[in-house]
This record gives sequence, structure tokens and C-alpha cells, in this order.
Amino acid sequence: MSVMACLLSGRLRSGAFLLLACSVLSPALFAARPPVAGIASSQPLATQAGMDVLASGGNAFDAAVAVSAALAVVEPYGSGVGGGGFWLLHRERDGFDVMVDGREKAPLAAHRSMYLDDDGNVVPGLSVNGALAAAIPGMPAALVHVSRRYGQLPLQRSLAPAIRLAREGFKVDAIYRRMAQFRHASLQADGAAADIFLRDGEVPAIGQRIVQQDLADTLIAMARFGDAGFYQGALARRLVEGVRAAGGLWTLQDLADYRIVEREPVRGEYHGLRITSAAAPSSGGIALISMLNMLADFPLQTLDGATRTHLVIEAMRRAYRDRAEFLGDGDFVDVPVAHLTSRAHARQSGASIRLQQATPSTTLNAQLRETEGLDTTHFSIIDQAGNRVAATLSINYPFGACVVPPGTGVLLNDEMDDFSAKPGVPNVYGLVGADANAIEPGKRPLSSMSPTFVESEAGVAILGTPGGSRIITMVLLGILDLADGNGPESWVSLPRYHHQYLPDVVQFEPGAFSAKQQQDLQARGHELKPLDSGYGNMQAIYWDRQTGRVTPASDPRGIGDARVGLFRVK
Ligand code: GLY
Repeated sequence: MSVMACLLSGRLRSGAFLLLACSVLSPALFAARPPVAGIASSQPLATQAGMDVLASGGNAFDAAVAVSAALAVVEPYGSGVGGGGFWLLHRERDGFDVMVDGREKAPLAAHRSMYLDDDGNVVPGLSVNGALAAAIPGMPAALVHVSRRYGQLPLQRSLAPAIRLAREGFKVDAIYRRMAQFRHASLQADGAAADIFLRDGEVPAIGQRIVQQDLADTLIAMARFGDAGFYQGALARRLVEGVRAAGGLWTLQDLADYRIVEREPVRGEYHGLRITSAAAPSSGGIALISMLNMLADFPLQTLDGATRTHLVIEAMRRAYRDRAEFLGDGDFVDVPVAHLTSRAHARQSGASIRLQQATPSTTLNAQLRETEGLDTTHFSIIDQAGNRVAATLSINYPFGACVVPPGTGVLLNDEMDDFSAKPGVPNVYGLVGADANAIEPGKRPLSSMSPTFVESEAGVAILGTPGGSRIITMVLLGILDLADGNGPESWVSLPRYHHQYLPDVVQFEPGAFSAKQQQDLQARGHELKPLDSGYGNMQAIYWDRQTGRVTPASDPRGIGDARVGLFRVK
């Protein structure tokens, strides 16, 4: 096998370039292993935490624990140990893929009318602000599980960077300020949350340090005692007392009963690309494969831009129609996964697509649509053994429920808002949901989080993004761009557009459509809604098996950090 030395550059957010000696296989051959490891996350401190753990001899799964925990500390508006997520794992030695479902669960005392007033109307804000909005967290159990089942370092080692960041603090940046401003009133309303995340009740200035000693102690308890450190004992008692004092429903039994679930990922194929993505209770993988199946029947690469965009929008519309009607927690409702991801369903669903005319959503035989969250986070990792992780994590709305049970440092999620509070009635985002996603004790709320792998003989892609209901269409546009032969720097930065069945509008970022394309889409009957700014924060990696190059990329809309490094995995 001919191997030549090369230099491979890893981008640093500082603008500097990290030059690493690496090995590249002859282009004629396919690399069996990546020559370097790569991490792309939304926060430089989290990427560094993952790199530190790889440098200590950890694999991609240890690094995923380190990055998740670090994000929980330095990006408190995006995810946290008070929240949950989906960790899509690939173990190279036996080709094993699994989705670790650490999604939050409704407390056992939850019920369908918990956000309704005496007249049966939804009380605005109740499922978003305050302890009643919080579901039982899944991230602590997921981190313990990923570390113990798949990692090769002790949990203490993988949690060490996050513990240090919580103790020593991190500096407020512009994004933190924007998010804290957005949730200012709710943060002010909770004493412990205000003490940690505000300064004298005000949004802290850039450069001020956010120290989280209680959170450090919580992470230490997890490092020492695993699940029991969070879900049992003194911390569990403090969590339940704090939640109940603030009007929530949690009990010690809710915490003791929480379990992650290992799920078979959803799989599909698009023009020779193998797709592996999130299973229910995420809607992501199912909707993604359904859209790709519909689009596979059209020669997208030979069509003009407006026709191609029109077809993609029509596929989005139909997949989100199905999402609204059929999807929920598969442990509670019968989700027709095989049917929705079949080519037959795509042909049937796509049969009503007209090349020159948008299909009004109201004519598509379904009434309801999905719920979404506004903030979340994603990271992608590959190690030199070829193990990989795509993980999308959330506490839902920025800073979650804006409640910290005293003495815990745990910022509660408000993931209960991802349920349909009342079928057919819009939630806080103006969205409605269906019966399949109605609140039930112990049920997981429907999610859009879509951590995804895309593979072919040519290479391996790892991608995902935050962005509520728009997550799935962002991942779709990334995969279509990959199919066009473009690399991860293009997937993360290309201008985006989105349709989600209802409302029947096409949202688009500045620069996504030319004036001519807009006219063309309007002439076909699409209502266009230009957005003032961009959305999403995609973190992606591509390992090109022909050149051996590993290219990580962070969305330029955020402050993420995508890097490679040489770390042999034992
Ligand atoms: N809370 C965002 C999502 O799960 O889709």
C-alpha cells in the first residue's frame, strides 16, 4: 500500500491554521482508517474538551461524553445535564450502529390537561417557563451509558474537562448575551438561575465569568457514582424538592425510573449514499428518508435551480404532513416507520407533486403539524479507529425552563413544550400537534433532532444541527449538497430554506434565492417568507476515503470550532 506524507490543515476559529503531519493513502485505494481524528462542535471549549480526552487515549465515545458535558457547562442556553438528546454511534470494529435515546420523559404525574385552564384553554407559557415545563432529564444517564458501554476511559476522566470549566468558569460572549437577553425576564424570576446566569439581575457583560460550583459538584457526583449520583440520593432529593417548590410534578420515583433506550437507527438510501439517522421519538430520520425517497425519482442535478428548489419544497411539505399526523414516541403509539420510509410510500406521496405548481398544504388530507424547539446543539466526532458520533442535544427553549433547583446547578429543560399541549391548538411557537404526540406519563416528546451519518465507498459524512423544526430540512439540504459533490464547508454554510407543511410558506435565509428564483417560485404558487437572519448551527465532518482527508466544518453562523488532531486509538 503506497502511503505518502502530507500536511493537513485544521481550521481554528482564531483564524490560525493548525498544521498536522498525517498520512494519506494513494488516491487509487480506499483508506481503511482515518489518518486523523476530527471534532466539530458549537463551542471552542467543548471541542478542546474532546481533544483533551482523545489525547488521554480515549476513543470517539469518550470524547462524545467530554464534549456533551462541556457543552452543558459553557452553552447553558443550548443543552445541559437537566436536558437530553440523541447520540448516534458507529463502532468501526464490528460496524455496529446504535442510537442512544437520552430524550427526556414526562413525569408520572403528567397528564393531557396539565397546561389547560378550567375552560380547557392552553395557558400561554406554562409549558415553557417554570418547573412545570420540565421533563425528567436523560443526559446524565446517557453520558454514563455511553462512557461505560462504549468508552475506554473512566467516566471521571471524560467528565474532568467539564468539571474544571464549571469550577473555573467561562467567559460570556455575544451569543450568550443575546440568548440571556431573550430569556431575561424568566431568568430573573428564578433566584438560583439569576444568581448563576445574571449579574445583579442583569445580563452579564462580555468577558464576565460564569462560574457554576453546584454544577461542578453534580458532575463530580455523576463521575463517582454514575446514574445514582444524579437520579438517587442527596442530589435527587434536592432536585425534587426544588422542582416541587417551584410548582413542578417530579417525584423521586420519576428520577429513579429514568432509563436510556438503545434504538436501531432509521436507514435509507439516496443515489448510492447510505443514510443512518435518528429513530423515533425523533421525527428526523423518518422525515429525512421520506424526503430523499421522494426526490430520488427526479433528476435534480439536471434541473434548473427554481424547479429543483420547488421539488425539494414539495418533498418537505409532504414529509412534514406525515410527521404531524403519524409521529410520536414509538413506545406509546404505533409509528409506521417501515411504511413512511418505503419507496412505495414516497411514490404515492410524491404522485401529487406538480412541476409547475405548488400543492396547497390544506389539500393534503391532514390537519396537524409538529412542535419545535428554538435552541439545541450538535457535535460530530470521528476518531482514528473510524468510530464516530453524531449527537444532537437539547434543553429546548434557550436556557430551558429558566429554573435551577437550589443547590444542584442543574438548569431544567422545558421539553414538555415539544408535546402537543392540546391537539389542534398552537403551542408557544404558534404550532399545533396531533394525538400521537399528546402528553402521557412517562412518554417522550416528539423531537426533530436528526444526528446523521451518510456513507458510500467514497467517504463518510457525520452531520447535524440545532434549529427546532428546521433541523430536518437543514440536514436534507446538506445531504443534497453532498450528493452534488460538495464538501462539509459548503453543507454548513449554504443558504437555507424550509417548508414544514403548515404554515404553508417557504421560509428562506438572506441570499438563498435570487430575485428570479423568487419570482419563479411565486409563479408556481409558493408563498415566500424572507427571514431577516440565518438559522442553524451545523457541525459536520467528512472523511474522504479516497484521499484519506478528514475535513471538519463548523457553521459560520455560530462560533463553533472544527479541528483535527493525531490521536491513536488503542
Ligand atoms: N427540543 C427540540 C427538539 O427536540 O426537536
